[in-house]
Formats: sequence, C-alpha cells, structure tokens
Amino acid sequence: VDVQITVLADVTDDVVAAFGRLLPQLSGRSGQNGQAGPIDPAALRRVLDCPANTVLVARSGAGIVGTLTLVTVPTMTGVRAHVEDVVVDAATRGRGVGAALITAAVELARGAGADSVELTSRPSRHAANRLYRRLGFQPRDTNVYRYLLVTE
Ligand SMILES: CC(C)(COP(=O)(O)OP(=O)(O)OC[C@H]1O[C@@H](n2cnc3c(N)ncnc32)[C@H](O)[C@@H]1OP(=O)(O)O)[C@@H](O)C(=O)NCCC(=O)NCCS
Repeated sequence: VDVQITVLADVTDDVVAAFGRLLPQLSGRSGQNGQAGPIDPAALRRVLDCPANTVLVARSGAGIVGTLTLVTVPTMTGVRAHVEDVVVDAATRGRGVGAALITAAVELARGAGADSVELTSRPSRHAANRLYRRLGFQPRDTNVYRYLLVTE
C-alpha cells in the first residue's frame, strides 16, 4: 500500500478524527476507564508537546491509517527508546503499514543515539508479535513488573 510515514506536528481536525478512530482499536488503552470515547484534542496536544515523544502517522489516500509513539529519554546509562500505542486501522491491516511505522521508529531511535528499541506486546496480539519478530525484535529475558496505582 502506498503509505507515507511522517512525524505529526499539529493537532488538526482531521488528526483528532483519525485518532478518535484509531485509539479505540487499542483495546483497554483509550478513553477514560478503558472506554472508547471522543479524543480530547488537548490531551493529544500534550502528547505532541512532550519533547520525549515523537508521534508518527501513516497516511495513505484514505488519510491517517496508523500511528505509533516513539519515546526517547536520556538516562544515566544511555538513551532509552520505547515504542508505544502502535495501531493500524482495521481496514488497512496486513498491507505493511505497521512494518513501515516500526521501521521508521527504529531509524529515528538510531538517530537519537539509542542502542536498542523496546516495546511490549501481549502474547494474545498475534499479528503484532509476528510483525515485531519478523522485523528483528527479540524477546528480552527480563521480568516486566507493574505496580497498580488505580483499581482496574
Ligand atoms: C499490529 C498491527 C499494528 C499490525 O499492523 P499491519 O499494518 O497490519 O502490519 P503489517 O501489514 O506490516 O503486518 C501484519 C501481519 O499480519 C498479517 N495480516 C494479514 N492480513 C491481516 C489482517 N487482515 N489483519 C491483521 N493482520 C493481517 C500480515 O500478513 C503480517 O503478517 P506477517 O508479519 O507474518 O507478514 C495491527 O494489526 C493492529 O493495529 N492491531 C491492533 C492493535 C495492536 O495490537 N497493536 C499492537 C500493540 S503492541
């Protein structure tokens, strides 16, 4: 599929509409209390305004069809790079948009001086896990912990 990957710079109406469509497809991660709901443009703007974040969007003839957020942070032991909130519109999956987004994020992380790029993905996300491994991501031998601050 003919797709262009760009860094999102502005929160325009088409961007708000696209994220309103895309983020609910990340189950449990969008809206208040995990509910799919309208996307708050101010919240989108806060994400873009954080210097650690680079929001990539994939555009095709149909407009914005996918996104991810690359987070790069300097730490005492080097630049950390994480990929968050990867989603491609259900109607456009299986055509390489996800691969194009991840490949672009990896190159940006390289440019930022990171030694590696990290992400997590639930085992039940079969398409995502297959995609990451195909692109060269390897399972990391570590324990991933979470301290819950809110009741789910
Ligand atoms: C994971 C995701 C981003 C991949 O995006 P994509 O644009 O479909 O990615 P690609 O086309 O580059 O590759 C997807 C893989 O699924 C396969 N696939 C084919 N048709 C598909 C379809 N209709 N739906 C999903 N996957 C399909 C592709 O062939 C490819 O398999 P391969 O890696 O074995 O070649 C997308 O499926 C998605 O948004 N899923 C829901 C949200 C999610 O799980 N996000 C990841 C959070 S960690």
